[in-house]
Amino acid sequence: MTILVTGGAGYIGSHMVHELVDAGEPVVVLDNLSTGFRFLLPASVPFISGSTGDRELVGKIIAQHGVTAIIHFAASIVVPDSLRDPLDYYRNNTMNTCALIDTAIQGGVGQFIFSSTAAVYGNVKESPIPEDAPTAPISPYGTSKLMSEIMLHDAGRAHGLRFVVLRYFNVAGADPRGRTGQSGPVATHLIKIACEAAIGKRPKMDVYGTDYPTPDGTCIRDYVHVSDLARAHSAALGHLRRGGASATFNCGYGRGHSVFEVIDAVRRVSGRDFPVEIAGRRPGDPPELVANVDRIRKGLAWHPQFQDIDTIAAHALAWEKRLLGKRSGGAG
Ligand code: UFG
Repeated sequence: MTILVTGGAGYIGSHMVHELVDAGEPVVVLDNLSTGFRFLLPASVPFISGSTGDRELVGKIIAQHGVTAIIHFAASIVVPDSLRDPLDYYRNNTMNTCALIDTAIQGGVGQFIFSSTAAVYGNVKESPIPEDAPTAPISPYGTSKLMSEIMLHDAGRAHGLRFVVLRYFNVAGADPRGRTGQSGPVATHLIKIACEAAIGKRPKMDVYGTDYPTPDGTCIRDYVHVSDLARAHSAALGHLRRGGASATFNCGYGRGHSVFEVIDAVRRVSGRDFPVEIAGRRPGDPPELVANVDRIRKGLAWHPQFQDIDTIAAHALAWEKRLLGKRSGGAG
């Protein structure tokens, strides 16, 4: 009954591992530590350093730990990097996922949960976006994830593997108990950047565009708390364990916040009025990206707890302060 979590030492994966351990589930983690950190994980969890594309290693893990389900997070996730080096994204995301699915089937693993992304939709014409909207990714990152979704559908049909695909919207926040959070050295996402500005780790932040067709002119996104997201995976696992059919779900809250609203939230919870500069639009940013959540509400027993944007900002900020303590040699 062991669950293999790939990329379990990463941002979302480590929240998943804590969630599973809290629930008393046996877990084994596979991570190559290219962007993950061992210190984000409970010391008690079996950890194997390696690649999801290493069939021999993964086969051994499945057999030795009695793996019955895989939650697959391990991936490269930086959209601009994927434009610079697309083949690396196809190798790491698509080809390694192909090997992992194959090894899972060979090893008799019956359940698979896959980290996908709203980036599979590309330039969206409707918002909120339903799962059956056309998929036309505009980056190799989005394409690499969509290809993995397609492989899962085909392999599932041919070999009886049941799966859930979760398409994440904008993941943010940190473990409410402060055990893990976003820890990479370079922040690329809005809430982490705003938190870094709030604690003085960066002198200011930029707002990329204030001339969008939205109420305050800045882009709107559906920010989902990472711990709620981890719970969505547990709900997906419950669905598969009860014999539920393979399915694809958007994972957001179905409501959007503008860049200015997010910055206001970080200012509120930090009590710091950090400098914000208005910069030009960032290429490739759609004005609005919000999930239609009808399907996940009906299909999974998912009960999000941290939808409030101030709560998401407060948890992200608490983690950022903790990281600052760790890096400056404090108790952490
Ligand atoms: N933004 C700023 N200033 C910053 C950083 C971001 O104004 O310093 C803005 C962006 O322009 C955007 C919004 O804040 O309008 C959110 O940007 P993020 O970079 O935090 O997130 P994205 O919406 O670009 O990224 C998300 C997911 C990706 C996914 C992508 C697909 O995090 O994994 O959507 O569109 F690939």
